[in-house]
Amino acid sequence: MLSEQSAATVRATLPAVGAALGTITERFYAGLFAARPELLNDLFNRGNQAAGTQRQALAGSVAAFATHLLDHPEQRPDAMLHRIAHKHASLGIRPEQYDVVHEHLFAAIAEVLGDAVTPEVAAAWDEVYWLMANALIAVEKRLRQERGGHAWRAWEVVERVAETDDVATFRLRPADGGPVRDFLAGQYVSVRVALPDGARQIRQYSLSGAPAPDLRQISVKRVRGEGTPDGEVSNHLHARVAVGDVLELSEPYGDLVLDAGPDTPLLLASAGIGVTPMTAMLAHLAGSGHRAPVTVVHGDRSPATHALRADHEAYAAKLPEAAVHFWYEQDAPAGARSGLVDLAGVPVEPGTRAYLCGPLPFMRAVRAQLIGRGWRRPTSTTRCSGRTCGWRGGRPRGRGDQRPARSPAAGPRSAPPRCPPP
Ligand SMILES: Cc1cc2nc3c(=O)[nH]c(=O)nc-3n(C[C@H](O)[C@H](O)[C@H](O)COP(=O)(O)OP(=O)(O)OC[C@H]3O[C@@H](n4cnc5c(N)ncnc54)[C@H](O)[C@@H]3O)c2cc1C
Ligand code: HEM
Repeated sequence: MLSEQSAATVRATLPAVGAALGTITERFYAGLFAARPELLNDLFNRGNQAAGTQRQALAGSVAAFATHLLDHPEQRPDAMLHRIAHKHASLGIRPEQYDVVHEHLFAAIAEVLGDAVTPEVAAAWDEVYWLMANALIAVEKRLRQERGGHAWRAWEVVERVAETDDVATFRLRPADGGPVRDFLAGQYVSVRVALPDGARQIRQYSLSGAPAPDLRQISVKRVRGEGTPDGEVSNHLHARVAVGDVLELSEPYGDLVLDAGPDTPLLLASAGIGVTPMTAMLAHLAGSGHRAPVTVVHGDRSPATHALRADHEAYAAKLPEAAVHFWYEQDAPAGARSGLVDLAGVPVEPGTRAYLCGPLPFMRAVRAQLIGRGWRRPTSTTRCSGRTCGWRGGRPRGRGDQRPARSPAAGPRSAPPRCPPP
């Protein structure tokens, strides 16, 4: 909790800090990377830095944390802290790096706000920063310890499967031959690759299933530049990584995970490469005896671009009460629908819990459709950089519709469960 004196100072200066966030962010990263160029090459996403996307996340979340401390002094914004801590822990961020960020963030604030940053103002924002940093450091330490303490581990590619023209699945086994830790369906790993110019860039990939107890599986969509450079890591994985090669992976992280008992009705809605956490969730449900209705919704350009479609259908078919609804913009086969996902005609059981993952326009559209149908606002939100996003909400009991019979698109009831139980 903030001291009374700092709270008053932060309240008075929050509007000025908020209004200058863009410039503060620019100066912060310029100073940070000038002093520590290895952080740009080997830790931060240099595509995001070049494109200017996600840059305000750090400074913006400090301002959001300050707002929360002022509005709810008795509560900690745990959802926000945990989301960031999972990401940081997956990246291998170390406690001493908080001093480096502090130095350059506060230098940027002083440079941008000038004389307004009196010693009193600096001390008040220092208190905010360290309250947040210490909370993050503590959660990150616990998360790392729960996963055995080390950041990176070498994994050998044992199988590579072309799912579609643009999506490849990589199956990996620990190069040290050691055991593979379980994961929760919906979690991701960070993947660190050495690029030809010597930089080591890191990206996150959802675990798209667990084909065997000693394997990890990720499915990567190649990001083609549309007037901008091609995505660095996804194209590197597609062009250069084959069976026998070794990748560095973090342990599984992420708190947007499947959290439902066998009698909780579920809606799993995805689009494009947002299918990856959904197949892991379906695999888990299929292997854990989920009894309640599961409504599976997916949108894609065409059946040919629908990655993991066979898994998507086969796991759904293993469930006693699943209804599958697929939308394709082109070439929709019998049993699927044409166009973009539209939940208007999709009946959903009362008390259903929803998990959404897909590109931002899909997330916005589906979220608006759910809210329009009386769903309460999401209990937690995750914005994953670039390609995928997650949104999880609940639906008030007693406001549902009737469910239809199982869709013919659900496919045969045959595939074995793959994802280890959380
Ligand atoms: C939790 C999480 C889970 C994810 N799961 C998956 C998954 O299962 N499968 C999957 O495929 N992806 C997944 N992603 C996305 C993945 O992490 C990467 O973001 C994605 O692969 C793109 O990385 P990249 O290195 O190829 O692209 P980047 O190099 O990071 O480029 C990203 C974008 O920036 C643009 N850009 C680059 N440089 C510039 C510039 N100078 N000017 C303007 N624009 C520029 C590129 O054109 C591209 O559109 C997930 C992300 C998160 C956060
Ligand atoms: C109080 C201090 C910090 C705050 C509030 C903060 C906040 C954030 C936020 C909000 C995100 C985005 C999370 C998401 O995508 O869900 C993020 C990502 C990230 N943070 Fe931090 N952070 C802090 C300290 C640090 C430190 C000390 C480092 C290491 C030098 C660091 C490195 C990163 C990196 C590399 C990313 C991923 C972004 C990318 O790859 O471009 N952060 N942080």
